[in-house]
Amino acid sequence: MRILVLGGTWFLGKAVVDGALARGWEVSTFSRGRSGLPAAQAQHIAGDRLAPEDLRRLASHGPWDAVIDTSSTELSPRGVLLSTTELRDQVRHWVHISTVSVYQGWPHRKLTEDSPVLDCPPDADETFGYTGPDGSPTIYGFQKAGGERAVTSVFGADAVTLLRPGVILGPGEYVGRLPWWLSRAARGGNILAPAPPDRKVQPVDVRDVATFALDRADVAEGDIFNVTHPQGITFGGFVAECLRVTEGAGQPVWVDDRLLIEHGVTEWTELPLWRTHQGVWSVDSTRAVGAGMRFRSIAQTIADTWAWLDAGGELVDHPRRHVHGISEEKEASVLASTAGRSPS
Ligand SMILES: NC(=O)c1ccc[n+]([C@@H]2O[C@H](COP(=O)([O-])OP(=O)(O)OC[C@H]3O[C@@H](n4cnc5c(N)ncnc54)[C@H](OP(=O)(O)O)[C@@H]3O)[C@@H](O)[C@H]2O)c1
Repeated sequence: MRILVLGGTWFLGKAVVDGALARGWEVSTFSRGRSGLPAAQAQHIAGDRLAPEDLRRLASHGPWDAVIDTSSTELSPRGVLLSTTELRDQVRHWVHISTVSVYQGWPHRKLTEDSPVLDCPPDADETFGYTGPDGSPTIYGFQKAGGERAVTSVFGADAVTLLRPGVILGPGEYVGRLPWWLSRAARGGNILAPAPPDRKVQPVDVRDVATFALDRADVAEGDIFNVTHPQGITFGGFVAECLRVTEGAGQPVWVDDRLLIEHGVTEWTELPLWRTHQGVWSVDSTRAVGAGMRFRSIAQTIADTWAWLDAGGELVDHPRRHVHGISEEKEASVLASTAGRSPS
């Protein structure tokens, strides 16, 4: 197999490259050189996927059996369209990393791959879409939905695999969700946690997403898969595992959604993975399981991420990391003013 990884120098893209090289595949990567170094054993082509001349230079290094596109977080549908159009004649199959945010019903309802998707044209620019007052839908969701349509409009559904992960965690996570919970657990003391402790979350390990992306590139059949952890873990189990692996001398103090909101705690960011909407963690991944996707336990993801951090894993100075995690002062103040008002 000869594959091209768009991105490939950090987090998911890096895991895809590592996995492909381990399979003995020939790997090309394409990035601007701002977010990490390319793997030494891969052929690296430097360039910007928004620059047509860079894409034409990239295309001259083809053909590839498959592209795995891991670099479209901040790309408009029009930007995706440009890459797909320039690479069309050099690629047999396109594996596109999308997101559960493309669903109209996320994070409110149970979702399958057949649930309706946000409407966004394949050539929309970065201004298309809006973010609703309760944080749903999001501009990001519209843009990623348009990106899916851009790929499909150029390659046709039979030559496209759309993967829709929820939250991705694991070694190398620059967003800072699990790293924050781990560092908070390591600090110990009373830890503000969102009740109820039996609330399920279903983050997926970056290495499992990468393996499945590679498997689907190999199969090369058009399809769509949600990529969310089928069993998940309870929030109580999640915090307990963070405490266990960090050997933190702390205990969670479970505070109700209502009280957290009353005290101005911001969902999703100040307490990462906490969101009150009913359907956040109800994305069905039966189809991916049926197609052979393997999911390691979330406890394993937590342990491996701590091992990575403990061994000096580099937390990059990324803007998204700075919005994650409640400050020590605010946490102490919320704990003091909610004491005795929630189940513990
Ligand atoms: N993280 C999550 O929890 C999560 C959840 C659901 C879905 N996803 C999706 O998963 C995918 C991977 O996410 P990620 O966070 O690992 O990576 P990412 O931030 O989307 O992409 C970063 C990679 O793309 C390269 N890149 C970015 N802009 C580029 C451009 N204009 N031209 C060329 N290369 C460019 C970067 O290198 P340079 O900066 O050096 O160019 C880097 O290698 C994304 O599509 C994201 O939407 C992520």
